[in-house]
Amino acid sequence: MSFDLILFGGTGDLTWRKLMPALFQAFRHGKLPAGGRILAVARDERSDDEYRAFIKERFTEVEESKRPSDEAYAAFAQMLHYRRMDLAKPEHYAGLKDWIATPGAVAGRAEGERAGTVVLFLATSPHLFPVICEQLGAAGLNTPEVRVVLEKPLGHDLASAQQINRVVASAFKEEQALRIDHYLGKPAVQNLMALRFGNALFEPLWRRESIANIQITLAESIGVGTRGDFYDQTGALRDMIQNHALQLLTMIAMEPPSSNDADAIRDEKLKVLKSLRPFTPESVARDVVRGQYRAGSFDGKAVKGYLDELKVPPSSRCETFVALRTEVQNWRWAGVPFYLRTGKRLAARDAQIVVNFRPVPHPIFPGSSGAGRANKLVIKLQPEDGLELHLLAAKGSGGNELLSPVSLDLDFDRAFASERVGGYERLLLDAIAGRLNLFVRSDEQEQAWRWVEPILDAWAADPTGPRPYAPGSWGPAAASALVARDGCAWAEEQ
Ligand code: BG6
Repeated sequence: MSFDLILFGGTGDLTWRKLMPALFQAFRHGKLPAGGRILAVARDERSDDEYRAFIKERFTEVEESKRPSDEAYAAFAQMLHYRRMDLAKPEHYAGLKDWIATPGAVAGRAEGERAGTVVLFLATSPHLFPVICEQLGAAGLNTPEVRVVLEKPLGHDLASAQQINRVVASAFKEEQALRIDHYLGKPAVQNLMALRFGNALFEPLWRRESIANIQITLAESIGVGTRGDFYDQTGALRDMIQNHALQLLTMIAMEPPSSNDADAIRDEKLKVLKSLRPFTPESVARDVVRGQYRAGSFDGKAVKGYLDELKVPPSSRCETFVALRTEVQNWRWAGVPFYLRTGKRLAARDAQIVVNFRPVPHPIFPGSSGAGRANKLVIKLQPEDGLELHLLAAKGSGGNELLSPVSLDLDFDRAFASERVGGYERLLLDAIAGRLNLFVRSDEQEQAWRWVEPILDAWAADPTGPRPYAPGSWGPAAASALVARDGCAWAEEQ
């Protein structure tokens, strides 16, 4: 179906860093539907050609493998258009409506034919969402073929998230509002669904009787870079745990949905969020560790501490690391610890989910029990995605041999090679096609805030602030102590 994709915040970071490269990849892979136009809107005056040149220039800053050749860019750029908009002015929305209604000649569409789908992607600062949604509604830019895509952060607490959702709901139906969590677009997350519900092998084991604990790590080696002002208002809990880590947790812990329909899946995810053990000030003090990176050296180079980063106040208590322990309080998971951890300036860029199985009940082989000897399934999201199943095996060297750990490794890039698509590419294509499975519903998002809020409140009332940690480490030592208390260890310590 032909489409018009309107990018609000058309000259911003998200647009040129993530969305344009993703759209170009989709174009290059022949996955963008025919008859498409992409319109960037922003504050300043530019012509279409000036905007095309601006984006071309920005492509030099993205990963080399994702940069287009001149020829390929010229073909892609035919779809790109630009329009100046003052987001507070109703007449500018009327102009946008006309642009959509009178398309002129578009490759792949009959002359003057309107797009079958209109996707409005709000890649702006979230404080603009209310005004944009109100104006879109008032201008009648909310007809059934229109979908609005909202980028995180959606609010900074429950009340502000509800406020945004109310404004969005006053203009759009829930099925028209697509809340992005780009982690849900990552191929490994698709594979998690496939692993659990497309195969009979794991589901019987996917429960408290067989699983000892589950660890979700979203570690980054970079610091906050030039985003100090945004990050200092946000912190790791809001930036990564409230959304990405909790979404992964729901995919791991959810019951099998009755179908692959968006709402069947989102209903099950919501139940998980509602089953998470609520935090109290006491359990925050016991089960949540926050940290902040100090200056030091990383990869042999001196790096700044968080407090010395650009646009960060020197007395900031903002956390750049969080580790926490929670439980999903239902029959399947009662008593199984779920450990979540994220941070900047950690030892590696490493995002993974580790499912640690229980040890054998009665070891008959020497060396088949004890630390690090139980089976584990590692779902890797980053830097590469893949699956590793850790087993113990006999080397076959005869005698009363010790068992050795081996792993079955699945490399999806090798298996599916050129057919793979990245997170934003997948989500943009889904938004255009109206597939909602991978977008977050307002009730999920609000429930995640409801769960996170007591942590924010407890921290606000706690004068001690985050614990320091060295760049290149795995965070404060208290994060190791948190899991050691249960007799467990993080994956890198096993
Ligand atoms: C974003 C956060 O949502 O995710 C960033 O705002 C973080 O702080 C980024 O760096 C990580 O995404 P990815 O896909 O690089 O792991």
